[in-house]
Amino acid sequence: MAHEVKGVIARAKGDEVEVTTVLVPDPGPGEALVRVQACGVCHTDLHYREGGIGTDFPYLLGHEAAGLVESVGNDVTDLEPGDFVILNWRAVCGQCRACRRGRPWYCFATHNATQKMTLADGTALSPALGIGAFAEKTLVAAGQCTKVSAQIRPEVAGLLGCGVMAGLGAALNTAQVSRGDSVAVIGCGGVGSAAVLGASLAGARTIIAVDIDDRKLEWARQFGATHVINSREADPVEGIRELTDQNGADVVIEAIGRPETYQQAFYARDLAGTVVLVGVPTPDMRLELPLLDFFGRGGSLKSSWYGDCLPSRDFPMLVDLHLQGRLPLEKFVSETIGLGAVEEAFAKMHRGEVLRSVVLL
Ligand code: APR
Ligand code: ZN
Ligand code: ZN
Repeated sequence: MAHEVKGVIARAKGDEVEVTTVLVPDPGPGEALVRVQACGVCHTDLHYREGGIGTDFPYLLGHEAAGLVESVGNDVTDLEPGDFVILNWRAVCGQCRACRRGRPWYCFATHNATQKMTLADGTALSPALGIGAFAEKTLVAAGQCTKVSAQIRPEVAGLLGCGVMAGLGAALNTAQVSRGDSVAVIGCGGVGSAAVLGASLAGARTIIAVDIDDRKLEWARQFGATHVINSREADPVEGIRELTDQNGADVVIEAIGRPETYQQAFYARDLAGTVVLVGVPTPDMRLELPLLDFFGRGGSLKSSWYGDCLPSRDFPMLVDLHLQGRLPLEKFVSETIGLGAVEEAFAKMHRGEVLRSVVLL
């Protein structure tokens, strides 16, 4: 029997999102039905509705979520009704070439639910990142549910499902920041601020936050930035060099996804340093740099997909650090809202007024 719930959909490219009735099937083999408690508003949701990710409208938006397992398919043994879970979009398959090589955080064939959620008239919905959690209930692959301690508040936990994990993981997993490093983060929205926090957690000695918005720089300080640079007012490459004995930073994390800021990251790192690109560029963007500089400056140029996280390894650990008071994830929650306020939250995100608006259900 299908469950009739309220959900937020993008019906067509550019249309304002709307709350409507969604039919969610009972879980079949390998699936789990989750009662969503909280779901953050992420740029990717906005990209879906603007047609920037695909054309499989209508989309059921929302993917940064936490909630309670309501029921599971009859072959699912590692989850049970009542479990508190964070949803992830990396349910590793265990069989692809990345998984077989022992690098499941690169899994190329991650699982999603097989059955479709639909509109009342039977139109199949495309769930954002295979999740679709701006809805009272959603259907996912069981592997998309990561069980964590139920002590954490849902609106905080859900953030680990996407943007905050991407930033924390860019510093901790991809860059492998370690004690004493100098780290610069260019772009301090939700993702960049989480990278600042990750660098701080790892024991970086100098953490330089770069943004064009003073509000963001103030927030970055609260997450552990030791220095800030407003790159509208000062050259960030020179600024980062000055703060690192003219050497450049050991690690520079680009959390915007633009050629000009990537170029800043490239030249603001020390010789043999590491650049991590976690911001997502658009298909039209191009980068032109002297090839000799790539060779001559050595080191490592990486990109970070979803913070190279392994949900089963990272989510419970980060939740525990939060519960111990060592990871102030609650500071990312700028406001909590209802399902009907997602469109307004997009506008606030666009104006840079929030780190995260989180829908409470
Ligand atoms: N120089 C410095 N900072 C900039 C510049 C620039 N030229 N342009 C924008 N910024 C800052 C903004 O002021 C903002 O604080 O970059 C930050 C971007 O943050 P958000 O828009 O809040 O985006 P966020 O959710 O953090 O995601 C950043 O990571 O996962 C990806 O798709 C995501 O590409 C996006 C990026
Ligand atoms: Zn795999
Ligand atoms: Zn996201």
